[in-house]
Amino acid sequence: MRSFTSVLLLAIAITSVLGHPADLQAERDRLSSVSSQHVERERLVQRSTSRKYSPADSNPYADWPSYSQLPLDSSYPTKAGWGVWGADDVDGALNHITNATILSARSEIQLGETFNLNLPLEEPSIPINPSRKPLQHLFQPESGYTDDVVVMNTQISTQYDSLRHFPYSTNTSIDTYRWYNDLIPSYEDVIGPAPTTVLGIQQAADKAIVARGVLLDFEGWAATQNLTHDMLHTNYSITSSQLDSVAAWEGMPSDWAKPGDILFIRTGWLAQFLALDAYDQNILPYSKEAPSGGMLASAETLEWMWEKKIAMVAADNPAFESTPFSQTIDGVPRSLHQVFIGGWGMSILEFIDMEKLAPALHSLGRSSFFVTVCPMNIVSGIASPPNAIAII
Ligand SMILES: *[C@@H]1O[C@H](CO)[C@@H](O)[C@H](O)[C@H]1NC(C)=O
Ligand SMILES: *[C@@H]1O[C@H](CO)[C@@H](O)[C@H](O)[C@H]1NC(C)=O
Ligand SMILES: *[C@@H]1O[C@H](CO)[C@@H](O)[C@H](O)[C@H]1NC(C)=O
Ligand SMILES: *[C@@H]1O[C@H](CO)[C@@H](O)[C@H](O)[C@H]1NC(C)=O
Repeated sequence: MRSFTSVLLLAIAITSVLGHPADLQAERDRLSSVSSQHVERERLVQRSTSRKYSPADSNPYADWPSYSQLPLDSSYPTKAGWGVWGADDVDGALNHITNATILSARSEIQLGETFNLNLPLEEPSIPINPSRKPLQHLFQPESGYTDDVVVMNTQISTQYDSLRHFPYSTNTSIDTYRWYNDLIPSYEDVIGPAPTTVLGIQQAADKAIVARGVLLDFEGWAATQNLTHDMLHTNYSITSSQLDSVAAWEGMPSDWAKPGDILFIRTGWLAQFLALDAYDQNILPYSKEAPSGGMLASAETLEWMWEKKIAMVAADNPAFESTPFSQTIDGVPRSLHQVFIGGWGMSILEFIDMEKLAPALHSLGRSSFFVTVCPMNIVSGIASPPNAIAII
């Protein structure tokens, strides 16, 4: 049976590795040696022992800090949620998901209709960030059966950003990197020859994430407003007050959010991209500095998200927020990536395909659904396809 299994080699987001066969072999050796240590993983993966806010408490949010109370210690970075779930916590915003929130999400399954929220891994066919190499998919014929080998940068298509992907940094220099709960002392622990495992994507895989998803269809609402929003060529930035209007347009009450929700925003980036023919898709301004639309990185956005106790955010665009990152928060250059991932331990899903789910929800007058997310179980992994499924 095992011979029939696809072999997936995921080069973590070290794009230079992909260009050098010798390094790639070293990376393969490292990955296979890591996987042979699989049995030791439970020992290696750190788990929270002292949650300050236990989901089992009768009112787990009795002492929940407001956004204005962040960070809990002035030595922590901008609006970090460090210590909120305990000093050793590794799960961050996923702590909002409890047995009770999962049982409550069951009521979202009404028709038994399922939706794949993942793009084909080879889309977009040219990686939006040109320092990332396209997917390599090889077939390996064997006697009487076929294997395949996939080598990919995990950031090129639909993806789950783990808590190792994005540290705080003030000037993008590794001297200033700081990860969630200050659990990773140095960059060497992330990309060095013997990486530590804490905050790796295996934690999210082990969590086996199940939640209520809520879809805010900005693209659908914008069409009713005749709102010009070129998400492919400009840094059009969606505000939290626009999201309130979207929720109202969808017929939701103002207090629609429940702790543990996963928030999906259909910005329109993917719809606009898919509407182009292949030629026009391939001549987008592909550059690290090229603008793309998304959420506005601002204090208002952060407060709006924090107070909703969201477990994870997702969108149909390259970076959830608009790019290039150019905003300051509390006077410091900060992106939503830094505060969500490095500050709150909140992962981000990108390039999520809601193009079938959104019209199905609209036709039913619904905004919410049951959702499962299971990234690949890669020890010390940075990102992965999220293998996200919606059920309505
Ligand atoms: C969920 O239920 C299991 C089995 O009853 C229990 O072991 C676990 O502690 C519960 N988790 C939470 C977060 O309540
Ligand atoms: C970034 O900031 C740190 C801390 O202030 C400083 O040590 C470092 O030299 C800076 N790096 C660059 C490239 O500016
Ligand atoms: C949008 O444009 C249509 C067609 O021009 C017009 O009928 C409608 O009133 C406009 N809607 C808004 C909200 O401006
Ligand atoms: C969008 O880009 C313009 C022009 O570069 C810049 O002035 C503006 O601050 C950017 N807005 C956001 C929200 O990034």
